[in-house]
Amino acid sequence: MAELIDHPCVQHKLAIIRDAETGHKRFRELATEITKFICYEALKNVKTREVVVRTPVADATCHKIDTDLVVVPILRAGVGMLEGILELVPTARVGFVGLYRDEKTKQPVTYYERFPRQIEGGTCIVIDPMLATGGSTVAAIDLLKENGAGNIVVVCIVTCPEGIQLVEKHHPDVPIYAAAIDDYLNENKYIVPGLGDAGDRLFGTSH
Ligand code: PRP
Ligand code: URA
Repeated sequence: MAELIDHPCVQHKLAIIRDAETGHKRFRELATEITKFICYEALKNVKTREVVVRTPVADATCHKIDTDLVVVPILRAGVGMLEGILELVPTARVGFVGLYRDEKTKQPVTYYERFPRQIEGGTCIVIDPMLATGGSTVAAIDLLKENGAGNIVVVCIVTCPEGIQLVEKHHPDVPIYAAAIDDYLNENKYIVPGLGDAGDRLFGTSH
């Protein structure tokens, strides 16, 4: 299942982050701002528990989040979304998956993993701005599940039909939330129109 966050506030920011003229400072700020909106939606089904709070006037029945939240950025570009989600849920724990896409084969190569034990029984939110072929996201979910995670959601900024299909094929239980579902992948497996190389644009590097 992929859910598109088509709110005008998100789509407006998406127009600016896509623009090739947007520099790395503004790109980073926008990644943070967009992530916050998408995560707000992605967490709408998170488990809550009823609590009674005494206001200055009377008791109020309220609801608090009742699950350990573990954010898992896929290195490196996923780090560009970390600040946004932590502004929304400051008590979340953070795990890391180091993956890069081999430039020739386009297959994901894992080079790092470190997860808090709360991935077992908690809710894991995998963050990566680009879900292109889907190989990196599938590999990250595989790793999380091998380490005991059961409840996983994926948050990206831009994806495309090929990537969604791959994640749905391997992990039909994992929902995807995105600000854009673009047209297709080009011969270099870049999303079209996409926003280019997210890692390079976030961190001011280039090929
Ligand atoms: C990018 C992106 C995803 C991956 C998406 O990372 O951030 O992790 O490619 O492609 P896929 O869906 O086809 O696997 P990249 O490999 O460029 O590494 P980086 O984050 O270190 O720049
Ligand atoms: N990785 C990116 O950064 N951008 C794409 O379009 C595809 C993979």
